[in-house]
Amino acid sequence: MIMTDEKKYKGKVLVAGATGRTGRWVVSRLQHYDVPVKVLTRSAEKTKSLGDVEVVEGKIQNEEDIARAVDGCTAVISALGSSEVFGDASPGEVDRDGVIRLVDEAAKAGVRHFGLVSSMAVTKWYHPLNLFAGILSKKLEAEEHLRDVFGKEGRSYTIVRPGGLRDGGPLLHDLHVDQGDRLWSGWINRGDVAELLVVSLWAEKAKNMTFEVINEREKEHRQEDLEHYYDKLAS
Ligand SMILES: NC(=O)c1ccc[n+]([C@@H]2O[C@H](COP(=O)([O-])OP(=O)(O)OC[C@H]3O[C@@H](n4cnc5c(N)ncnc54)[C@H](OP(=O)(O)O)[C@@H]3O)[C@@H](O)[C@H]2O)c1
Repeated sequence: MIMTDEKKYKGKVLVAGATGRTGRWVVSRLQHYDVPVKVLTRSAEKTKSLGDVEVVEGKIQNEEDIARAVDGCTAVISALGSSEVFGDASPGEVDRDGVIRLVDEAAKAGVRHFGLVSSMAVTKWYHPLNLFAGILSKKLEAEEHLRDVFGKEGRSYTIVRPGGLRDGGPLLHDLHVDQGDRLWSGWINRGDVAELLVVSLWAEKAKNMTFEVINEREKEHRQEDLEHYYDKLAS
């Protein structure tokens, strides 16, 4: 745990999708940097293992729930993800409309920075993953809305488009970052996706960036920090 006088970020961060496999890493990396965390979840029961977090029970479909969640937060990190073709957990409901609603409520509440877990290949409408209820195209619509709303008026965003996600911690691999959605394959630990988004809270070079990221190579190679990867991005 980082001590208070060295704090990298002074605000409170809402994590949406905090009970998910990537969201849990986002929460734990925020806690590592001693950043206060609020979470929006459909089930408070699921947050018991998240440690010291402020919990708002609600759905991403409900504007009032979201307004309560973003209240008092300076930043939002979304690791929301759909899991079903139809209904409340579908790509249209979660990856597109849910994220769009969250972006709008966050901007209304005065949130300054918004970090989003998107996906590699999000611009490729012909990609096989789109057979799952058009998930990539839905994510792209949400990305576009985020860039539009948080790319102005003193707000900022960071959109991470990871390759295939693996359950694993941060800072264990060299990473490869790219822009323009040119990568077709590759893996990355969920912990690294979380770390990149947490770092985006204070790294100026992360502001208003959209980029893809995968492991540079399979072999583990311990990293001190991930902030330097933002130096490689073109604005
Ligand atoms: N799997 C991959 O290889 C891959 C690759 C690139 C990008 N991605 C993207 O990365 C993101 C994170 O993936 P993951 O595997 O960590 O996700 P995950 O474990 O499936 O977690 C998804 C989260 O979204 C929440 N959620 C879903 N529907 C909701 C609703 N209606 N209201 C509120 N919360 C809702 C879930 O909460 P509950 O606990 O309430 O269900 C859960 O916390 C996703 O957007 C995914 O598409 C995945």
